[in-house]
Amino acid sequence: MLKVAIVGATGVVGETIARVLEERNVPVATLGRFASRARDGVEATTPERLRDFDVVFFAGGEDASETYAPALVENGTFVIDNSSTFRMRADVPLVIPEVNPGDVSPEHRLFPVANCTAIILCSALAPIRDAAGLKSVRVATYQSASGAGRAGLDELLAGERAIARGENEPSPATFLRPLARNVIPQIGSFDDSGYSGEERKVADETRKMLGLPELFVSATAVRVPVRTAHSEAVWVETARDTSVEALAAAFAQAPGIIYHADGIVTPREVEGTDLVHVARVRAERPDSRRHFVLWCAGDQLRKGAATNAVQILELLMARGLVG
Ligand SMILES: NC(=O)c1ccc[n+]([C@@H]2O[C@H](COP(=O)([O-])OP(=O)(O)OC[C@H]3O[C@@H](n4cnc5c(N)ncnc54)[C@H](OP(=O)(O)O)[C@@H]3O)[C@@H](O)[C@H]2O)c1
Repeated sequence: MLKVAIVGATGVVGETIARVLEERNVPVATLGRFASRARDGVEATTPERLRDFDVVFFAGGEDASETYAPALVENGTFVIDNSSTFRMRADVPLVIPEVNPGDVSPEHRLFPVANCTAIILCSALAPIRDAAGLKSVRVATYQSASGAGRAGLDELLAGERAIARGENEPSPATFLRPLARNVIPQIGSFDDSGYSGEERKVADETRKMLGLPELFVSATAVRVPVRTAHSEAVWVETARDTSVEALAAAFAQAPGIIYHADGIVTPREVEGTDLVHVARVRAERPDSRRHFVLWCAGDQLRKGAATNAVQILELLMARGLVG
């Protein structure tokens, strides 16, 4: 039985980690809940208290991970971190258990969980990579409000309520514009090239997780007025000739994927699930053998964060590295 802590336990990802640990019957002896300040059943985070645990999940943002994780790792504690702080470090694996479990080595103690949009994208791309190789990926994302944490979700709900009652909408604070009845084509700050922080993370982390450092990835990340679950429209160029039928066969047997041969799938339908849904797989033109288009969707609080984090712990346990 494990002593497990969650830093950021009052947030939308932290709460989901606690739920997923219970749902998946992870053998937890003690569950410590930590946040920036103490309240009912939740302690203020301190380095001394975190040292009492075998495994610490971080869902408290960059500052918390930067402040507490390095000393824990040094101490031999297993750290599974949802922030972006350590994801691109060459000496740490960035793992989706269905995609690149082999990247975990016995000496690893620090396991960043990739960007939620990148996890959903790579889950959908891995079967294509395995079937026909990948040369380039272009993606437009449709990202939900809870991707910006509890504050983002609350801001959407407050805007929706105000509009319904004919009241003035509250000024946006988490988002750059009011999100209710709107879409916002900026997530994170733009760099000199014009890409946003979220778009850079999707590109960099996708290359790392797929083990394709030369893969061309171009993303446009957009916030949409959906509560939970991200969707993505994806254009891929494969390295070898293939067909919709061959890709469909690859998706149908890929772990962690629900393949919809017909019809569509929407974020509301996938909210609360742990799998990545793939639909609308088609050739770009009737004679295309290397250019394909698809739609994918997944619950970013679960597969894009909490479930993937808990699956990493399960992978470590299955290998006999933890517990
Ligand atoms: N939301 C998503 O879909 C998603 C997906 C993938 C990854 N992530 C990442 O997961 C992390 C958590 O995101 P979230 O969406 O769950 O945010 P959230 O709903 O805003 O929750 C943040 C949590 O972190 C705690 N916290 C903040 N500063 C802290 C500090 N210095 N020390 C200890 N705890 C601290 C907060 O505690 P208080 O309540 O005391 O303030 C709260 O429990 C972020 O790094 C985010 O980028 C989020």
